[in-house]
Amino acid sequence: MNNSIRIAIDGPAGAGKSTVAKQVADRLSYIYIDTGAMYRAVTLKAIQEGLDLHDGPALKRMLDETVIELVKHEEGQAVILDGKDVSEEIRTYEVTNNVSFVARLAEVRLDLVRRQQLLAEKGGVVMDGRDIGTHVLPNAELKVFLIASADERARRRYEENNRKGFETNLEQLKQEILLRDKRDSERAVAPLKKADDAIELDTTSMTIQDVVTRILELAGERAD
Ligand code: CDP
Ligand code: CDP
Repeated sequence: MNNSIRIAIDGPAGAGKSTVAKQVADRLSYIYIDTGAMYRAVTLKAIQEGLDLHDGPALKRMLDETVIELVKHEEGQAVILDGKDVSEEIRTYEVTNNVSFVARLAEVRLDLVRRQQLLAEKGGVVMDGRDIGTHVLPNAELKVFLIASADERARRRYEENNRKGFETNLEQLKQEILLRDKRDSERAVAPLKKADDAIELDTTSMTIQDVVTRILELAGERAD
C-alpha cells in the first residue's frame, strides 16, 4: 500500500478513537498520534504549575517552555512531558474533567495544532482527536468520524475502569462524558464536528475488530 496517506479519526469521548487508531496504525506500520494526550499533557502541567486554566496568554507562555513527545512502546504510546513519562497521570479524574477548558483556548490550540501538523508532515500517519479532519489535516486522504450512543460510550469507559481496578459510577460517567462532549462541541475555536467529507461510522454495535477492518478497507481504497 502507498505509505503516505493520512488518516484522521475524530469523534466524541469513548467512541473508540484511540483503540482503533492504534490498531489501524500498527496494521499499516504508520505512526499513531493521540492529540487528546497532548491536550491532557498541557492541562496536567498547567494544574501542576497552579495556572488559571482559563488564562490563554499564561498557558501560551508555559507552552513556549514545554516539550511534549509521543513515544511508541509495546502497550501503545507513552506521553513524555518535559522528559518525564506522564502516560498515567494525564488520565486522572482531575485532568479529564479540566481538559476541555484548556482545549478551548485559541492560544493552546494554535500551538498544539502546529506541533501536530509537523508530526504528520511525512504522511503515513493515523491521528485521532476532535478537529483533525476539520482543522489539523483538512486534506487528509481518509477522514473517519466515529460515534456511539452515550450509554454505550459510558459503558465502555466503565468496563475499562473496572479492568484497571478503578471503581466508578456508570451514571456519573455518562453525565461527565455528556458534559465534556457539550463543551467540546460548543466551543468557539475548532469545535468537535464531523468534516463534510468524513465517513461517519456508528460503532454502538460494532466490535473493535469490526471498526478496524472497516477503516483498513477504506484506507485501502484511498491508497490505491
Ligand atoms: O479519550 P477521550 O475521548 O476521553 O479524550 P481525549 O481524546 O484524550 O481528549 C481529551 C480532551 O482533549 C477532549 O475532551 C477535548 O477537550 C480535547 N481535545 C481537543 O480539543 N482536540 C483534539 N484534537 C483532541 C482532544
Ligand atoms: O479514544 P476514545 O475516547 O474515542 O475511546 P477509546 O479510549 O479508544 O475506547 C474506550 C473504550 O471502549 C476502550 O476500553 C475500548 O476497548 C472500548 N471499545 C469497545 O468496547 N468497542 C469499540 N467498538 C471501541 C472501543
